[in-house]
Amino acid sequence: MYAGDSTAAGNPTQQPKANSRSNKLKVEASPGYALVTGASRGLGRCFARTLAARKQNLVLVARSRERLEALALELRTAHGIEVESIPFDLARTGAGQGLADDLTSRGLKIDLLINNAGFGDQGRFLQLPLERQLQAVNLQNATVVELTHRLLPEMIEQKQGGIITISSMAGFQPIPFASVYSATKAFLTTFSLALEAEMSRFGIRVVTVCPGRLQVAPEDLENSGERKNFPGGEQTHEEVVSEALRAFDRGGGLVIPGAINKFAAFAERS
Ligand SMILES: NC(=O)c1ccc[n+]([C@@H]2O[C@H](COP(=O)([O-])OP(=O)(O)OC[C@H]3O[C@@H](n4cnc5c(N)ncnc54)[C@H](OP(=O)(O)O)[C@@H]3O)[C@@H](O)[C@H]2O)c1
Repeated sequence: MYAGDSTAAGNPTQQPKANSRSNKLKVEASPGYALVTGASRGLGRCFARTLAARKQNLVLVARSRERLEALALELRTAHGIEVESIPFDLARTGAGQGLADDLTSRGLKIDLLINNAGFGDQGRFLQLPLERQLQAVNLQNATVVELTHRLLPEMIEQKQGGIITISSMAGFQPIPFASVYSATKAFLTTFSLALEAEMSRFGIRVVTVCPGRLQVAPEDLENSGERKNFPGGEQTHEEVVSEALRAFDRGGGLVIPGAINKFAAFAERS
């Protein structure tokens, strides 16, 4: 469940292309890998499939080993790319450092980091289990900072690469009954926008994505529970991924997918 949400592209690891309006691969794929956290379902799986179609090698991370392995097989078979799946709990303390160590020991060079894994619980702050709230803080904040800190130096050295971070519309305002979720997303948005400014001089592209409510993919409907109508509607994963990767191709920036969300975010910030 997501509160404020009520809860890409050309080869993204190449240099920005002027006037890149299409999502089709126009340049040769990088030999490096794109790492997608939360790739086992939802938006992360859509990032993985979209990048795979552009012949981008991938590292898929989430906790569900079987789902990751099935997706990796699907993508290798369909696109002839290299896909590594790494089952990993990114909500544990030090998980970002642990995953970075694992990548180093496997010799995997990451050109594009997609910080996507996340969850949000709704309810009164004091009634939600503390441990689960701290997991959200670790997953959405500490792990993202750790992974970013560990992976950026090599990107800077190579003078190419980037980071796409999935925040949320929920980060634009405090949301009662989703206090921790909205706070973690506010952190992510601020962190990622500041990083974009710091990294531009190195040619590293940083995209901050703030979706509103997303549709559930048909293959995930079974586990999604009851869904109420949401004002402003829901967006498809494909729309969000496409907008995010287009921004990446243009050199980075803030992405608020959908006209209604853009208007709402503008109204909230002004
Ligand atoms: N859905 C929305 O309406 C909405 C709106 C705005 C923003 N967002 C943001 O978009 C991102 C993706 O959301 P989604 O709707 O695609 O979510 P989702 O369908 O629930 O998928 C979440 C992904 O994160 C992984 N994950 C969760 N906990 C993890 C952990 N401890 N360690 C490693 N991986 C973990 C899950 O895999 P495992 O369970 O296998 O670990 C899964 O692959 C999130 O950051 C979310 O906050 C979502």
